[in-house]
Amino acid sequence: MASRGNFSNRIGFIAAAAGSAVGLGNIWRFPYETGENGGAAFLLIYLICMVLIGFPVMVGEISIGRHTQLNAFGAYKKLGGQKWGLLGYWGILSAIMFLSVYNVIAGWAFAYFIQIIGGLLAHTKDFGSHFTNQIADVSDLFFYSLGFMAITAFIVSRGIQKGIETASKVLMPALFIMLLGLIGYSFTLPNAMDGVQYYLVPELSEITVKTVYDALGQAFFSLSLGMAALVTYGSYISKNENIVSSAALVTITDTAVAFLAGLLIFPMVFSQGLSPSEGPGLVFVVLPGIFASLGLMGPIIGALFFLLLCFAALTSTISLLEIPVTFLVDEKKFSRTKVVLGTALLVFLIGIPSMLSQGAVDFFSNFLFYEGKTKAVLDIVFDIFSDVGLPLGGFLMTIFIISKWKMKNFNQELATGNPTYMGSFMQKYLNFILTYFAPAFLGIMFVLTILKKFFDISFF
Ligand code: TRP
Repeated sequence: MASRGNFSNRIGFIAAAAGSAVGLGNIWRFPYETGENGGAAFLLIYLICMVLIGFPVMVGEISIGRHTQLNAFGAYKKLGGQKWGLLGYWGILSAIMFLSVYNVIAGWAFAYFIQIIGGLLAHTKDFGSHFTNQIADVSDLFFYSLGFMAITAFIVSRGIQKGIETASKVLMPALFIMLLGLIGYSFTLPNAMDGVQYYLVPELSEITVKTVYDALGQAFFSLSLGMAALVTYGSYISKNENIVSSAALVTITDTAVAFLAGLLIFPMVFSQGLSPSEGPGLVFVVLPGIFASLGLMGPIIGALFFLLLCFAALTSTISLLEIPVTFLVDEKKFSRTKVVLGTALLVFLIGIPSMLSQGAVDFFSNFLFYEGKTKAVLDIVFDIFSDVGLPLGGFLMTIFIISKWKMKNFNQELATGNPTYMGSFMQKYLNFILTYFAPAFLGIMFVLTILKKFFDISFF
């Protein structure tokens, strides 16, 4: 086992797992989801989803990994037999597909960062069309995405401690510092407080089934749940660590970063009298326009913001790549370097249709029609492997714990490294949620998603 590697200690694991969680999900997706769902009302439901579903599911995943010390497939197969191994395969497939599109979007952030540094955005007037042109211009993006994947592969090839842990320990604090600095600046803008109010004072009448549905999806996306990412990272933690408190710290860090990203973005948006419900373009269209209006500070603030976005994305892409890599190293005994190179290249190639689907090639851009709109390949991959797949993965994991692995063994794993766990309130809480609440809630959400997306039957 020694050759698998390990996180050096608790801090190493927490930095890496928080790095996995904190990503485009927090800084790109969370603000636009919040902006499309009424601001503070969404934030409130999101926080409830984190406590009631996100945190318990995270503990479940980590404990499966730590118990078996194996990759996603190996872990489920060891505890549940060949059939449950399929759930591990599903996680690995999801990670590959998810990374293939995630890396495209990371490429956008990388492109914006380089362009701002190079002064290329200084004369742009219409950031809406700049964004549209940018994501269609693959001659450029090809290299940014490839570059991003190459950096990811380099870090992962260095292994758990030297690569992933070290990178996370540098990138995560840097991200926090940039975030706090940018918030400080954002608060000095005129009308900043309107944004704060929109973000923090909930309008309870805004809460609908859609709010809950979107908040749950966002919680899974943001905490990296449902695709065995944390089974994988959990397999590298030592038996002396306290899983519950580590998972709590990861959840808190992830929530804090999303919360702070909102605190950075909404004051900026409101200071310019702009709409927060711009959708996925929010940080790529609205923010650059704002940076351009900040005079001399603009390029500095803009460059810092997109660097922040790149750092956040990078700790997530390394975690995503590690999922198939751990699998191949464990099961096939290939060398890590070879596996990393092969997998990174494969994932990059799989991502090409998604990259071409943002206006470059019509066939990929208008690939299918459902949910009342034409969908690009990039949307479809996210629909299947994020919106549908993640809650499904979470649901099946709870069923696995209850019916196959059994609560008793789950509890025993959690008590290892945590002497006060047995009989505690935490034990009762986790057992109740994972046995009843999470499977029921996730099961219902899964059915609603399928009906809404593919059968045009919507209850909200
Ligand atoms: N949590 C990441 C983010 O917020 C995205 C993500 C989802 C992820 N699942 C993952 C990252 C699995 C690593 C591993 O951007």
